[in-house]
Amino acid sequence: MANHEVDDITGVETTGHEWDGIKELNNPLPRWWLWTFYGCIAVGLGISVLYPAWPLFGGPTPGVLGYSTRTELSNDLAAAQLAQAGLIAKVAATPVADILIDADLNRYATAGGASAFKVHCIQCHGTGAEGGVGYPNLNDDEWIWGGTIDEVYATITHGARDPGDPDTHYNIMPNFGADAILEAPQIATVATYVASLSGLEGGVNTPEGAQIFADNCAACHGDDAKGKPELGGPDLTDQIWLYNGSLDSIVAQLGKPRHGTMPAWGVRLGDTTVKELAVYVHGLGGGR
Ligand code: HEC
Ligand code: HEC
Repeated sequence: MANHEVDDITGVETTGHEWDGIKELNNPLPRWWLWTFYGCIAVGLGISVLYPAWPLFGGPTPGVLGYSTRTELSNDLAAAQLAQAGLIAKVAATPVADILIDADLNRYATAGGASAFKVHCIQCHGTGAEGGVGYPNLNDDEWIWGGTIDEVYATITHGARDPGDPDTHYNIMPNFGADAILEAPQIATVATYVASLSGLEGGVNTPEGAQIFADNCAACHGDDAKGKPELGGPDLTDQIWLYNGSLDSIVAQLGKPRHGTMPAWGVRLGDTTVKELAVYVHGLGGGR
């Protein structure tokens, strides 16, 4: 460097380059910055040698470590499946009532049941299992066929009125009107009596109504009308109704009864999934 001129204002040496009287100050990069910069390049090159990096026609260079996210994913999946296989086998081997009291198994079964419910049950019972006309709400504590874990498990396994399952729950209400078992005035009297039990509009509690009920209805709905789960006769004293819940709908049920059909799932989904569903449904809030 021939020119060691020093700039008057800054006191910094110039590089000797000059354009139209403007001179360049010699301010080299700080050493620490420069070495960090070289370091980054070295690390980058190192990574590109170790891991898949450079795009080529047939795919990227594989890297000497042989790492791939796909292998990592399949390893993770295999590990998860292995962990689950133990739990699935345990659910399969454990009676459904015992799954309830094993916290880990209960949590696992509930999660499995929730996802199976989304696939197989929401069409009829609703996404929140809230039900609809003719389809029972599974969150409340009224159970047509019983709300203990074993009863829920039996209902899901064999269904109700499923012609394909010999062990299905089965009971149908007589055609009181169409088969002339009761006269129209008797139907009106017992219907207003039943309506009075849950405080429906038009309900009147009369001794005649109570008598007709005791003679014709108590066998399936219970002496106190609070239901008979072993026969599938629903509680008629609460505010929970399969078929609307009005004086008219009670009269209609007596004239020409409606009956729900719940498919049997035991054979279709297998016992393990049905156990998970039973644990999930039982845990929705109304389980006994
Ligand atoms: C095709 C419609 C339909 C599907 C799908 C269905 N259900 Fe049902 N389910 C019903 C009907 C209808 C009833 C009421 C039966 C009756 O009135 O006796 C019922 C009743 C039940 C009951 C008994 C409720 C009680 O109060 O005793 C349970 C538990 C139940 N279902 C669970 C399930 C589960 C779990 C699934 C999915 C695997 C499912 N259901 C899928 C129609 C269905
Ligand atoms: C042989 C048994 C049986 C007898 C007897 C019987 N019921 Fe029923 N009843 C049922 C069953 C089973 C259901 C539920 C239908 C279903 O699940 O879809 C039902 C449903 C009803 C419902 C509809 C409940 C709801 O939630 O919407 C009413 C109301 C009713 N019964 C009233 C009566 C009255 C009143 C009598 C007497 C005159 C009577 N039942 C006699 C079996 C019976």
